Amino acid sequence: MQKITLFEGDGIGPEITKEVVRVIHALELPLEFEPYAIGKTSFEQTGELIPQEAINSIHRNKVALKAPVTTPIGHGFRSVNVGLRLAFDLFANIRPARSIPNVITRYDNIDLVVFRENTEDLYIGLEEQIDEDTVHAIKKITRKASTRIIRAAFEYAKENNRHLVTCVHKANILKKSDGLFLQIFNEIKQEYPDIQANDLIVDNTCMQLVMRPEQFDVLVMSNLYGDILSDLTSGLIGGLGLLPSVNKNEEYAIFEAVHGSAPDIAGKNIANPTALLLSACMMLDHLHYHQQANQIRNALMDVYANTDIRTPDLGGTATTTKFTDAIIARL
Ligand code: NAI
Repeated sequence: MQKITLFEGDGIGPEITKEVVRVIHALELPLEFEPYAIGKTSFEQTGELIPQEAINSIHRNKVALKAPVTTPIGHGFRSVNVGLRLAFDLFANIRPARSIPNVITRYDNIDLVVFRENTEDLYIGLEEQIDEDTVHAIKKITRKASTRIIRAAFEYAKENNRHLVTCVHKANILKKSDGLFLQIFNEIKQEYPDIQANDLIVDNTCMQLVMRPEQFDVLVMSNLYGDILSDLTSGLIGGLGLLPSVNKNEEYAIFEAVHGSAPDIAGKNIANPTALLLSACMMLDHLHYHQQANQIRNALMDVYANTDIRTPDLGGTATTTKFTDAIIARL
């Protein structure tokens, strides 16, 4: 029996987790969830944002499904998410953005994946006050971190029959730091002659993503550009509430929705479980249950394509439970 560490999260977290677990249980797979509280709920109960037993559980199981958590302001880690990424060195943040039928956006043909480096760049948080009116921030780019995220993007392209990997950078200005990232990209692409590779300056990438997003396939970039561009790509498919993600390295993987704990709608059973459910599908793929992952994705897309059952964020009146019932009925 494969065990999966489960974080039900805060706010809408427990509501959408309950429904996603219900979908997975409907498939009767040999999977067992080990639930732990982290974030606000855990802090109120134990004084810890990430209890050691939760960390131990990830060490044992290697795989976790995580709902959004509320990080209490002013305590401990900068955020629970950053804390988990650092604790497990989860260097790759992967966010696939794919159009969902009948979710009205400017485009209906989006199918791209952002690979964001998760551990360095300006996000190491090294800022120095030079004088009252001057601050320096350190942008850290290393061969080690760049190599592993770029190689992960090419490996993903190879495994998933993707044809193009695009390196996003600003090496024309940041000649040394982004220059190193681009240099490593140009080295690694030689190892993958069957996959096309190109590079684009980040500002041009933003324009191209808005004007002709269909030209992109897999995009790889350092931390800050990845943070910004992956939100941009979520806008292309209808918003953060629909976007799944994983934070992973070679050993550990934590699957999570991109959105937050939505305290404004918590407790009402109206949250949209789509992003967490698609994250759970990525988890099933990771555990080699590809057929079951596709079964859930097909049922979900069928609900969007052929019914008007929608949660209120997409203009409907369905509860989280009713929306999930419709998915389970199609499995
Ligand atoms: P948020 O994503 O929670 O909410 C933004 C807006 O989107 C709200 O109007 C909310 O109702 C709506 N929304 C989000 N997810 C939805 C869903 N599944 N269904 C329907 N509507 C949805 O962002 P916000 O308000 O900035 O953050 C709230 C809390 O979440 C904060 O404490 C923040 O720290 C935390 N957070 C946690 C994340 C995580 O654990 N991965 C990520 C982002 C924020």
